[in-house]
Amino acid sequence: MSIHRVGVLGAGLMGAGIAEIAAKAGYDTRIREVTEDLAGKGLRRLEGSLARAVEKKKLSPEERDAARGRLRVTTRLEDLADCDLVIEAIIENLEAKKETFRALDGLCGAQAIFCSNTSSLTITEMSAATARPDRFAGLHFFNPVPIMKLVEVVRTIATSPETVATVTEFARSLGKEPILANDNSGFIVNRLLVPYLLDAVRALEEGVGTREDIDRGMELGCGHPMGPLRLLDFVGLDTTYAIAEIMFQEYREKRFAPPPLLKRMVMAGRYGKKSGRGFYEYGEGS
Ligand code: 3HC
Repeated sequence: MSIHRVGVLGAGLMGAGIAEIAAKAGYDTRIREVTEDLAGKGLRRLEGSLARAVEKKKLSPEERDAARGRLRVTTRLEDLADCDLVIEAIIENLEAKKETFRALDGLCGAQAIFCSNTSSLTITEMSAATARPDRFAGLHFFNPVPIMKLVEVVRTIATSPETVATVTEFARSLGKEPILANDNSGFIVNRLLVPYLLDAVRALEEGVGTREDIDRGMELGCGHPMGPLRLLDFVGLDTTYAIAEIMFQEYREKRFAPPPLLKRMVMAGRYGKKSGRGFYEYGEGS
């Protein structure tokens, strides 16, 4: 099946990034947000990233204008009815995702493929809310979406081989490197990454080292581009907390249990870069 029109649900950090690369790759792209305010915010984020790509000489001004011309933002789910592929990147809440997919299932054509960018929820459960579990897969991107090369293609026991092939080809057409994972909470990357990030918080809690030394240790000792605490700020402490809770519920293993410090920081609104403060401070003069 060939993909021409792509729908993206959610214009947050991930949704805006996914819509940006789809439009850059030549797809007619629709992004749906629930309110005008959130839609405007997402569009500004996306335009900022396109401007940065031009600044970094990754994109010409003409290519930027062409990509922008392929994008449309809407608050109406109905505007995604004629999409060939819809990628969901809304909040990490199973009920909200199921409800959205259920509504979309009644709007889109029978051939349309649905994908979720979930980090930790099971694709199978979402697909069961639709009449198209064979045309349902996971497509998990990494932050920052325009830069990170990887995409996890996730198949459930019901996903058809044709859907896997189409979605894998689509990921390649975005300039990404796809890997195939089965539908287990956290797939491949978060299954390994999340316990590591949580352990870094425990190390800080236990006073093993300062935040700077913990980060510097992994940057200089292991060649990671960012230490774990800075990466937590970057991904979002609220997001990581939600992912850890889901993975803990699924596996009941201590390594996925969110440490108390992470919970308290989320309760205090310290979500990381997006809220101006996490393990570090961001913004003017910090
Ligand atoms: N569009 C396209 N390219 C861009 C761009 C844009 N908007 N902005 C920057 N770039 C390019 C730059 O030109 C540069 O390319 P080059 O290496 O070929 O010159 C490259 O991207 C890096 O850009 P910068 O030099 O501005 O930035 P840094 O070198 O400081 O790197 C970083 C920033 C890429 C974020 C790096 O620190 C990094 O890789 N951090 C780790 C990120 C990570 O681990 N992400 C995964 C998180 S887990 C996740 O997302 C899963 C979820 O489920 C939780």
